[in-house]
Amino acid sequence: MPVVSQEDFAAVMARMSAAKAAIMQRQQALLELRYDLTNRPAGGVTMSRGMSVQTGVRITLQGGMTWEGVARMSPEEISDKNVFPAGMMPLPHANHPGGGMVFPKYHIDEIRKQEGRELVRFDLDFDLPDHIMPEFPHAIFLTTRTDLGDVSQGKLVTADNYFGLFNGILNPKQLDGLRLLVSQFPQQQFNQTEDRRSERPSRGVTCFDCHANGHTNGAAHLVGDIRPQEFRHRIETPSLRGVNIQRLFGSQRALKTVEDFSGI
Ligand code: HEC
Repeated sequence: MPVVSQEDFAAVMARMSAAKAAIMQRQQALLELRYDLTNRPAGGVTMSRGMSVQTGVRITLQGGMTWEGVARMSPEEISDKNVFPAGMMPLPHANHPGGGMVFPKYHIDEIRKQEGRELVRFDLDFDLPDHIMPEFPHAIFLTTRTDLGDVSQGKLVTADNYFGLFNGILNPKQLDGLRLLVSQFPQQQFNQTEDRRSERPSRGVTCFDCHANGHTNGAAHLVGDIRPQEFRHRIETPSLRGVNIQRLFGSQRALKTVEDFSGI
């Protein structure tokens, strides 16, 4: 990425907004080719607050193949006939060369409602349907107060409501830690800089914009530690549940302190 931007923000925004429909169409075509993303709830199997889990095999096979057919073939034959299930290949970012954080619409809507903050990108929409996403907002269970069960009160925790929700059930030090998790930090796509992807500049995003309620809302971006861009994987936000007992962090299990992650 060039250090000195040669195009002013208005021109970048006009160009990228115009390109958005074709980019999203290309991504939808890729998703349809690889996966069956229809809404098929598994009766009686739900997440903590009642949203149904989806059921069934969701990778579709190309070239008239069946799973039994693929199972009978040798690896060489699968390679020669080019019938390796495309749905098992890494899923690209909706705009892989551009990358950056993309938030699901339900999260964007709720943040706008609560904080009047804008997480919309003018160049991209989130690409996966809501019914295959995690429940929103999520239940919150405290390791220090298991007796209370879900303490979320069915709300998304933000800078607006965190104090009211947790005062009295977290100690002051924990409460201040939570404040940091719902505070904004500068982030490229939303910054007050010319290379942002949001119409209005903002002070950035919060940890809980991705790790919503300490869990995940399925927000995605590209892994930050690989070059060049095309080799970076799309990564979905993991839950932070259980991080209290982990000793190593990150998909490559290469980070030894949670502090390292505040760089994201
Ligand atoms: C754009 C969404 C996004 C934001 C904002 C974000 N994270 Fe993450 N977080 C991720 C993703 C994606 C990963 C997985 C990265 C990987 O494994 O390579 C991750 C991983 C983590 C992990 C490691 C979890 C594990 O199981 O190993 C911790 C801890 C973490 N984040 C904390 C934070 C904190 C603290 C903040 C705020 C300072 C934050 N994150 C902001 C998306 C985000």
